[in-house]
Amino acid sequence: MNIEKFCRENCRERRGTGTLKWDSLHEIFGDPDLLPLWVADMEIQSPAAVREALMKRVDHGVFGYSTVGDAYFDSFFAWQKKYHNVELTREHLRFATGVVGSLYAAVRAYTREEDSVIICPPVYYPFYDSILNTGRKLVTCELDNNNGYYTLDFEKFEKDIVDNKVKMFILCSPHNPVSRVWSEEELDTMFRICHKHGVLVVSDEIHQDFTYDEKKFISSALVGDGKYKDILIILNAGSKTFNLAGLIHSHVIIFDKQLMETYDAYIKSIGSAEVNLMGIIAVEAAFRDGEEWLENVKELILHNYNYMKQEFAEELPKVLVTPLEGTYLTWIDLRGYLTGEETAVFIQDTCRLACDAGEWFSHMAHGFIRINLATDTKNVVTAVESIIRNIKEKEKK
Ligand SMILES: Cc1ncc(COP(=O)(O)O)c(C=O)c1O
Repeated sequence: MNIEKFCRENCRERRGTGTLKWDSLHEIFGDPDLLPLWVADMEIQSPAAVREALMKRVDHGVFGYSTVGDAYFDSFFAWQKKYHNVELTREHLRFATGVVGSLYAAVRAYTREEDSVIICPPVYYPFYDSILNTGRKLVTCELDNNNGYYTLDFEKFEKDIVDNKVKMFILCSPHNPVSRVWSEEELDTMFRICHKHGVLVVSDEIHQDFTYDEKKFISSALVGDGKYKDILIILNAGSKTFNLAGLIHSHVIIFDKQLMETYDAYIKSIGSAEVNLMGIIAVEAAFRDGEEWLENVKELILHNYNYMKQEFAEELPKVLVTPLEGTYLTWIDLRGYLTGEETAVFIQDTCRLACDAGEWFSHMAHGFIRINLATDTKNVVTAVESIIRNIKEKEKK
């Protein structure tokens, strides 16, 4: 694929389109003139099939309450089977208006106030919010950083669960921001511990379609030949895969009958929302016809990653870029050049970039940044050049 041509033809100017990433810089960073590489969405247009399906519906012009037709289930189930070997039926599936909302719903449905919920930082910051904003007790088991490659210390994980009488584990699989695609063995060990201590697992699999270099994503549903289904609540969506986050539509997958009854009762108690019409139309088309588009986007992401890694290796060898196993987010350790305290300010005020600061994901991750690679290569080049130039200048002083 010609990357430059792909970017030219598929990336769009988003400033001025009411975009969280580009148009709320002043609100979030206090500075409207930064290059944004935060928020996990893309500058890339969604697949042509998605746009055509949406336009057809817009032309119809009636946007009343909607239902989900057979074609949606066929499309989504075929994708799950083909790419992840997961067999689903309708009874296992519920719709929601976003994975983050479903994290809150799961915490509320299955735990009580003051119950402990465990997460493994550095991790996507709404995980913290879903526990703290619902009055639950936050338990953190930090991942081990082995020279940029992150693993879970299972002994510590089990001890934290037992010591805090943990009721729920929120797993990020693949793991944002450290890009791990957990192996079946790792997942099996986590789930065995959870099963042993009566801990439910909420598995956020929203990044499942972004894996690279033979690294295989294993859905929690398949671990141990499916033997952990009675403790699993799986969350996924087409929104990351096909850049549809603004259409707020996502999935909740529950295999266990009792867990599903509890979930349904909770949703009933808060008054369930209808499905999002445009979300349904877009996701159905994407899962049916989006394969080639996704392959191209992954090639672009990998290209951007390899460029970044090589530039840093040549110009600033003490920058540590975490191996890209999953997601389209890269986790960068700048502590070889910057102190933890100065990094976020340096990246924003000196390099003129809006990135997710490490400390958003863990109180131990000062000195790290997360960069979104699913963008026009020229944005990644600007960011990398700026970091290199400014760190070199700083080094001279
Ligand atoms: C791990 C993870 N979960 C959930 C979300 C957001 O999901 P949604 O937009 O469906 O609420 C993100 C977005 O970055 C994410 O990285």
